[in-house]
Amino acid sequence: MMDDRMVSQDATLEEHSLEYSLRPQTLQQYIGQDKVKENLEVFIQAAKMRQETLDHVLLYGPPGLGKTTLAAIIANEMGVQLRTTAGPAIERPGDLAAILSALEPGDVLFIDEIHRLHRSIEEVLYPAMEDYCLDIVIGKGPTSKSVRLDLPPFTLVGATTRVGLLTAPLRDRFGVLSRLEYYNEEQLTEICLRTAQILEIGLELDAATEISRRARGTPRIANRLLRRVRDFAQVLGKDTINASLAKEALDRLQVDKLGLDHIDHKLLMGIIEKFRGGPVGVDTIAATIGEESHTIEDVYEPYLLQIGFLQRTPRGRVVTDLVYRHFNMEVPNE
Ligand code: ADE
Repeated sequence: MMDDRMVSQDATLEEHSLEYSLRPQTLQQYIGQDKVKENLEVFIQAAKMRQETLDHVLLYGPPGLGKTTLAAIIANEMGVQLRTTAGPAIERPGDLAAILSALEPGDVLFIDEIHRLHRSIEEVLYPAMEDYCLDIVIGKGPTSKSVRLDLPPFTLVGATTRVGLLTAPLRDRFGVLSRLEYYNEEQLTEICLRTAQILEIGLELDAATEISRRARGTPRIANRLLRRVRDFAQVLGKDTINASLAKEALDRLQVDKLGLDHIDHKLLMGIIEKFRGGPVGVDTIAATIGEESHTIEDVYEPYLLQIGFLQRTPRGRVVTDLVYRHFNMEVPNE
């Protein structure tokens, strides 16, 4: 009924050992998201003082900003086990019931992409979150019986890139709702310097700044770019990355000055060339550039909206003048 994909504990996260070792383990080590961090610090301390489990936490925001990392930190700071699963991995209500009944008192259950839980599965969560119990129906038809099973107290940490897709009853059962924001250049620079230390590669400050500028406000991207730049340094026999090496490597990776990659370019140029700058629906954009609509909405669009390159209108997406300027093109009607 349950397979390895559905529940993983700390040990299996080590499969992604590099990614994992780069992750901060404590709130103290975690850079950025100051408001979220300060609040969590208080809630964690208060729960520990009362010797209670932490209230359920919903983390939302674009991908790569540290939702999974924060879930692991919460478990670590509370001194409990982390169990990890994801919305799409839970196929039947029974799968979730199995995961819940295997929890130990105080555990943190992390459900990534919680907006992708099926409605019938979500309903198992309501009594579990509210009263720490499972309502199980035994049998079918008029002779069926409902049995209530107690669960140990636990903390659900849900993560989603699309908080708007959560149903109200689910959203309302979280006691803490935290929105993660894009990181600024200084914070990303600090993260790059920290990662470089862990990877044992020299990274000059202005090289870290160069990588951070092109990381789209996202630590996951900053760390990925840093690893790729490190590959260039390694092949060139250099043990320190300076700004010119970083610039050259990033240019060769086709990451432009604002961190936009070839898919961002294809998306923006597609709207300009095929739809005269929009408005155009996201499904149409997806079809023209060969990406999934939800990937565009979850991964590419949030940053383009954030930097003002794209606007959402009731009739679809529109590129702004900034895009024409970025591509050194004539701005229409100017
Ligand atoms: N690595 C990735 N994200 C990080 C963060 N927010 N703080 C410290 N190191 C990180």
